Amino acid sequence: MDKLVIEGGQPLSGSIRIHGAKNAALPILAATLLTEGKIQLRNVPRLLDIEVMLEILNALGCIAVQRDDLVTVDTSGADSSHVPEQLMKLMRSSIFLMGPLLARFGEVCIYQPGGCAIGERKIDLHLKGLSALGAVIEEQDNQLWCRASRLKGCDIHLDFPSVGATENIMMAAATAEGTTVITNAAREPEIQDLQRFLNELGASIIGAGTDTITIRGVNKLTPCEYEIIPDRIVAGTVMIAAAATRGTIRLTHANPVHLTSLIHVLRRAGVQIGICDDIITVSSSGRPKAVDRIVTSPYPSFPTDLQSQIMVLLSLAEGMTLMKETVFEGRFKHVDELVRMGADISVDLNAAFIRGVPRLYGATVEATDLRAGAALVIAGLAAQGKTVVEQIHHIDRGYDRIELMFQRLGGKMHRQTPAMKLDLA
Ligand code: UD1
Repeated sequence: MDKLVIEGGQPLSGSIRIHGAKNAALPILAATLLTEGKIQLRNVPRLLDIEVMLEILNALGCIAVQRDDLVTVDTSGADSSHVPEQLMKLMRSSIFLMGPLLARFGEVCIYQPGGCAIGERKIDLHLKGLSALGAVIEEQDNQLWCRASRLKGCDIHLDFPSVGATENIMMAAATAEGTTVITNAAREPEIQDLQRFLNELGASIIGAGTDTITIRGVNKLTPCEYEIIPDRIVAGTVMIAAAATRGTIRLTHANPVHLTSLIHVLRRAGVQIGICDDIITVSSSGRPKAVDRIVTSPYPSFPTDLQSQIMVLLSLAEGMTLMKETVFEGRFKHVDELVRMGADISVDLNAAFIRGVPRLYGATVEATDLRAGAALVIAGLAAQGKTVVEQIHHIDRGYDRIELMFQRLGGKMHRQTPAMKLDLA
């Protein structure tokens, strides 16, 4: 297993281009199945999760290829609606295939999806939405079958503004008969990106970015070219790392509007942020200040996907911060690892009490999920001494070679790959 070895204490400096958003690219890749033909997507990040999605598309009969940040998907040959179990279990986002496959083939067979171990992660809202559109859902020997001869538009109220369920319903409803209205929809920027993409294909959708999305079903969608939005979580991770190492950096190809809640928290912590179009500068020289209280909740509130990273900065702050996690129930697994590095954090159910310490110390720690892993990298960059982060396949799911990204900013870190055993027999 690869490891990251980090020599901490170096303030980050320099400029970095932010890659495309994983969470926008994944549903958009699934949505390509709604058309027959060749689609070109630009600004697609090179990540493990994207590789898995391309592998699934190929297993379904498409020809999906990535070259640098350009992905071409030819969906003309798609001939299967059965997502292979071993691929489904690798990534929760495989659930996005339900809506498009159901719309295209009138049936889909999936297994319970895998993904980060950050909570229960049910799929009931996806299933309720699809069944409201007319799908009949049956469980058989660990398989979930959804069937519908023609999906029919309807009104769907989500009990919780689930990002994935909103996206799945949008994709399924794009070619359904009649109009679908989703209320209490998720408002994340990735949902707006999916709406833009589907509309480029010829769909008729309005309202993404608000809590009500209206999808007027159309008969046919046709292929297009499209560019994915920048990854706000990667941008946020780098901004927090700059602040934690007391450095000065410049992000290009970012979207500051998508980072409003983080920018607000960073400014309260005493970090200087400058914004000019798609360029964000981050500068910090002294010890950060505690920010009293942060509560994660759906967009536009503070994102759960930056909770573990901001915790590192606040563990170095002057004063105490209360962090409440309201989106996922199992998302404090990084706390034990940060405590091993000298942080003073205690957890009570979904609340973490962070009492700032002057410094963290290098240690051998384990990434338990994607964003927890990113937090440990930030901690390692800010800490005194050497940190080794293990189980970094989690990090590779969402960051394109994170060590190169931080090396470009002057961070002292490298990837250690176990030596290949030579078979001399
Ligand atoms: C997406 C993001 C993930 C982010 C999360 C919340 C992608 C690929 N992933 O995940 O990075 O952390 O949004 O911003 O876009 N829930 C149910 N039933 C359902 C669906 C969800 O109870 O059917 C619950 C989940 O268990 C969780 C909460 O709703 O507690 C949020 O989940 P959701 O918004 O669906 O997140 P994902 O789409 O899985």
